[in-house]
Amino acid sequence: MHVTAVVPAAGSGSRMAGSLPKQFLRVRGVPLLSRTLMALRAAGGIDALVLVVSPDQVDRCRQEILRPFGLAVDGLVPGGADRQASVFAGVQAAPAGTDLILVHDGARPFVTPEIIRLAIAAAAEVGGAVVALPVTDTIKRAESDLRVQETPRRESLWAAQTPQVFRAALFREAHVRANAEGFRSTDDSALVERLGFPVRLVPGSRENLKITTPSDILLAELLLARGEAGR
Ligand code: C5P
Repeated sequence: MHVTAVVPAAGSGSRMAGSLPKQFLRVRGVPLLSRTLMALRAAGGIDALVLVVSPDQVDRCRQEILRPFGLAVDGLVPGGADRQASVFAGVQAAPAGTDLILVHDGARPFVTPEIIRLAIAAAAEVGGAVVALPVTDTIKRAESDLRVQETPRRESLWAAQTPQVFRAALFREAHVRANAEGFRSTDDSALVERLGFPVRLVPGSRENLKITTPSDILLAELLLARGEAGR
């Protein structure tokens, strides 16, 4: 099975205070995005890696994210206006013969080899796999007026993380169809699900967090300090 990892990292990081895009933020001296790429490389089972960054950050990415850490990628492509467009740009740069595409957020540096292995195995079996966690808060659905519309049963709710892994042909088709039909989503799997193809959940970990807000940086520092203390 040839697996290509597509890493979307072209977000602006608008929920993070400061002007630096979050993927360039250094935690314990190493940019978050470099840490994510190292975690993917260390996992094994990934044959090609395509990194998607903002069009104006391509050179900076080479200089700050890749070169200082001896990281090489098989494709470094400019992203789009939303996450879906960035992932699609990465998918188009994947080698033609790849069997599976694994999408992993550039902002999730704590992914483990075990999670990656389980997600690849599940996708190889059923076609699609999403790493996810059972939600611990009760979820409310409301419109912009803040009036509650619905309280779904918590027992059936999962919070989607990445990696998300799909058969390459299926995932390409899902993107092409979504684009043609004007469907946009922040989630890769949603594009596949709407075509009726099966997707299996793979239990993730709370530590596989997406670094989004300043408090996530604090958490990342603690997790790294604990990891280094354990060595
Ligand atoms: O916005 P969100 O936190 O869901 O982004 C998840 C991942 O998608 C991040 O790694 C972010 O850099 C990436 N992204 C992207 N292109 C965009 C928006 C987000 O690659 N236009």
